[in-house]
Amino acid sequence: MKDIVKKKLPEVKEGELLSKYTTFKIGGPAKYFYPAQNNEQLIEAVKIAQEIKLPYLILSGGSNILISDRGFDGLVIKAQNSGLKVQNDEIEVDSGVMLNKLVGECTKNGLSGLEWAAGVPGTVGGAIRGNAGAKEGEMKDIVEWVEVLHEGSQIRLKNRDCQFKYRHSLFKNNNDYLIVSAGLKLKSADKDAIQKKVNEFINQRQESQPYDFPSAGCIFKNPEGDSAGRLIDQAGLKGKRIGDAQVSDKHANFIVNLGQAKAEHVVMLISLIKQKIRTDNNIQLEEEIGYIGF
Ligand code: EPU
Repeated sequence: MKDIVKKKLPEVKEGELLSKYTTFKIGGPAKYFYPAQNNEQLIEAVKIAQEIKLPYLILSGGSNILISDRGFDGLVIKAQNSGLKVQNDEIEVDSGVMLNKLVGECTKNGLSGLEWAAGVPGTVGGAIRGNAGAKEGEMKDIVEWVEVLHEGSQIRLKNRDCQFKYRHSLFKNNNDYLIVSAGLKLKSADKDAIQKKVNEFINQRQESQPYDFPSAGCIFKNPEGDSAGRLIDQAGLKGKRIGDAQVSDKHANFIVNLGQAKAEHVVMLISLIKQKIRTDNNIQLEEEIGYIGF
């Protein structure tokens, strides 16, 4: 297998530590690791993995995921495709573009609709996959179409075909859709007003969410009509620590890595939180983060 992989993807690395590429700074080694610099390389790498039946994983911004300490026993394809084209109030953007870069381009071009994403870690592809959002908006509000690789062909899905729901889409549990790029529709607005909103969102986030230690973003989805952070806080779990994984003192729906946290510690902490909220509130919390390599 090793020879075939190296022949087909000469730039592939072996044993690359994935903790370098996750916002949690957690994750063991990838058997094979390949940085795809553009859409063609991304598609090619996926096709090769499918052809030789090698398990693969698309790693984008590295937020919203927990990778096991054992790592990933297959090919990790790091999406670094970064094309971005603005035309009037529409943007065509590759899945590997960082969300913050896109927010910057929107501001520069006087396009409103994505201000809520200022300060949110991750890439456009990751944000579409999880239908990322805040109270003020979600990806589904601005996505017109998504270009995907599905069963070997490139197809363009319309917004209504993407099955967007709260923190969910068709792509979330379906490895057979590779998000390549997307068309977004925004609204023309005054640049200063957009910049002001962007600054407000960044300030709000810095006040209410932890930025001093690595994290994966919110761990749990909000149960309907409530906030997971509020519930965990009320349960007295802020500051609860297993190894170097700790429920943030600032926002209880975040687990922070104090330095040397292992995925195993995070898993134990998540399980403890779920059990406590089940006992106290009769609510079953559901993870927003995805697990890899478990
Ligand atoms: N709260 C507490 N204690 C806490 C955290 C929150 O009492 O430790 C209370 C707050 O005071 C507030 C309420 O709970 O009254 C809601 O909190 P917040 O405004 O922080 O919003 P959230 O529902 O916890 C959601 C998203 C965040 C997003 C913020 C801001 C989810 C799971 N979380 O958080 O998204 O940044 O709104 O719009 O939907 C993410 O998805 O990764 C994420 C962080």
